Amino acid sequence: MATDVLNNCPAPAKLNLFLHVTGRRADGYHELQTVFQLLDRGDVLHFRLREDGEIRRVSDLPGVPAENDLVVRAARLLQSHAGCAQGVDIAVEKHLPMGGGLGGGSSDAATTLLALNHLWRTGLSRTELMQLGLRLGADVPFFVFGQNAFAEGVGEALVAVATPDCWYVVVEPGVETPTAQIFSDPHLTRDTKAVRISDFSGASVGFGKNDLQAVATRLFAPISEALGWLGQFGQARMTGSGACVFCAFAKEQDADAVLEAARVTGKPAWKVWKAKAIERHPLSHLLQS
Ligand code: C5P
Repeated sequence: MATDVLNNCPAPAKLNLFLHVTGRRADGYHELQTVFQLLDRGDVLHFRLREDGEIRRVSDLPGVPAENDLVVRAARLLQSHAGCAQGVDIAVEKHLPMGGGLGGGSSDAATTLLALNHLWRTGLSRTELMQLGLRLGADVPFFVFGQNAFAEGVGEALVAVATPDCWYVVVEPGVETPTAQIFSDPHLTRDTKAVRISDFSGASVGFGKNDLQAVATRLFAPISEALGWLGQFGQARMTGSGACVFCAFAKEQDADAVLEAARVTGKPAWKVWKAKAIERHPLSHLLQS
C-alpha cells in the first residue's frame, strides 16, 4: 500500500553562531557570512495526502492567514514546479516563536518541501529543493541542506562545517523582531571584513559577532535585558535578526543550572529552554545525497 500520511515530521530550530554583514546587494538584500547550527528542538508537522489537488493548512496559526503561511506557499511551489496533481492537508504544531531568529517559519517550509517531495514522489534532488526553498526565504536552503553549515551570499551558498558538540540555553525575550526593518536600519554596519571558513573551523563557541545585535538591542530593550542576564553564565549572543539570545554549555548540567536560575531571577515574560546541538536534520534521510 502506498504511504499517504507522514506524521511527526520535525522542523528543527537553528542558531546563527555568528552573523556578519559583509555588504549589500543592488536588490537590497544583504551579503552575509554565518554559521548555522541545528538544534534538537523545533516544530512538528503532519502531512496527509489529498487526491483532489487541494493544499490545506488544517491547524490554526494566530496572526498568519493560511495563504501567507510559508508551509502553504512551499507546498504550492513544489506542486506547480513538479506539475503534481495531488494535494495535501498540513498540520503544524508550533513550538518555535515567530520573529525569534530561530528559523521557525523557514524550517517549517523546508520540512514541507522534504516531506512532500517524498509523499508526492516528485523526485527532486536536494539542490533543486534548495533552489525552490530560496524563493521562500533566505534561511530555507540551509534546512534543506540538512547539515550545520558555513553560509555566504544571502545565506544560500553553504558548506558543511563541524561545530561544537554542546548544549544551548535559549531565552525568548517575549518580543518579535521585524527582520526587514532590522536589516534596513541606518545604524546597521554592513562592512565586516570577510572571514575564511578555516578561521571558524579553528575556533570554538564565541567566534565572531552578530552584526544585527546592536540594531536589535537599540530597538528592543527586552533583548538587551535577556543578553545581560544570560551573560552572567557565559558568552550570550543574539541569533539571526533576534529576538532570541543563546549561550553555549559543554555540559547538560550547566545548562540545567541556568534554567533553574531563570525560574528564580528570570523575567515572567521570558521563555527559557535548553537544546542540544545536532549534526543532521532529522529528515535528511528522505533524500539520497
Ligand atoms: O529571506 P527572508 O524572508 O528571511 O528575509 C526577510 C527580510 O530580511 C528580507 O525581505 C530582507 O529585507 C531582509 N534580508 C536581507 N538580507 C538577507 C536576508 C534577509 O536584507 N540576507
